[in-house]
Amino acid sequence: MISIVSAILYLHFILSCFCYAQVALTYNVIKFGAKPDGKTDATQPFLRAWASACGATKMSTIYVPKGRYLIKSAEFRGPCKNKIKVQIDGTLIAPMDYRALGNSGYWILFIQVNRISVIGGSLDAKGAGFWACRKSGQNCPVGARSITFNWVNDAEIRGLTSINSQLMHLVINSCNNVKVSNIKIIAPDLSPNTDGIHVQSSTGVTITNSIIKTGDDCISIGPGTRNLWMEKIQCGPGHGVSIGSLGRDYKEEGVQNVTLINSVFTGSDNGLRIKTWARPSTGFVRNINYKNIVMKNVENPIIIDQNYCPNNQGCPSQTSGIKISQVTYQNIQGTSATQVAMAFDCSPSNPCTGIKLEDIKITHLKKNKAQSFCKNVGGTFRGVIMPDNCL
Ligand SMILES: *[C@@H]1O[C@H](CO)[C@@H](O)[C@H](O)[C@H]1NC(C)=O
Repeated sequence: MISIVSAILYLHFILSCFCYAQVALTYNVIKFGAKPDGKTDATQPFLRAWASACGATKMSTIYVPKGRYLIKSAEFRGPCKNKIKVQIDGTLIAPMDYRALGNSGYWILFIQVNRISVIGGSLDAKGAGFWACRKSGQNCPVGARSITFNWVNDAEIRGLTSINSQLMHLVINSCNNVKVSNIKIIAPDLSPNTDGIHVQSSTGVTITNSIIKTGDDCISIGPGTRNLWMEKIQCGPGHGVSIGSLGRDYKEEGVQNVTLINSVFTGSDNGLRIKTWARPSTGFVRNINYKNIVMKNVENPIIIDQNYCPNNQGCPSQTSGIKISQVTYQNIQGTSATQVAMAFDCSPSNPCTGIKLEDIKITHLKKNKAQSFCKNVGGTFRGVIMPDNCL
């Protein structure tokens, strides 16, 4: 009897070792020479760990243990032979001197990789020096986005924290099927162009359970975005969730099927914003759904602005070619920090159509009754509409 039990245990031991070797091919960056001291340049060890994982025929994990790792511009390029999981328990920090990321445009870049997950981790880009350079009007490098995914399919990014990026924090560009969740983004509200998450030319991106406090858009949505789902987002400070700016270029892809649901804006400059240049363009915005949104002291809770033309350059007396249609606002409640809580300033050459309002209740923080503004817009409404419906 005992020998049978021990034989089974033994067999189990053999099998589990065998299976373990099958599934868990782990590349620990420390073994590749990375030092978790925040001072020694760990870029090459990280790239060597990537090269091993990317070349492995079995699925593999790159493991970054606790500690601080100094990383310069790093490109993690595919295609790779199998799935890769990057498990980060530590913090990646950029060099103190903002010029070190130079003119690369990127700090951490994943490019042409399929089936990748990036789990956990903190990124500290130390962007303050770069913001100060720009503010002082010196000759500054172009700056770097903190973490970028270019031409990446079937990806998951979960539990990542990003602080003080030079420019955008997290960029998803030309990707398909990317799940982003439990992200935390933090930068001062006056840090320029530090968008939280930027999505562009991508299909099937979901962003859930994330907290974004930054100096530009919490989430910005560029041309060619389709089937984007955003849920449980906390935004503010920041410039809101913005579709746009669109229509800067004449030939541009449209944005369609975007949903934002169960989210809260706190003290942000905008809430639900669609913004287009006052220039001719082939682009469009259609099938956008906003539902169950709470506004707390938001400057422009609901806004469509088709007259974007900073410094009146490149577009005076032109109108936006972007056609906006089928935008639904459902159960939007809370307070506006300005009198005009709902503004639809649409293009005279391409009026907004199919705007749907249902159960809107936004009051002005001080004067109580907020106002609405409508220009070149058509649509329908039902339920309570506060401020007064102007469609
Ligand atoms: C719209 O996007 C959602 C994901 O956000 C997707 O499930 C749905 O199929 C899309 N609808 C169409 C018509 O493509």
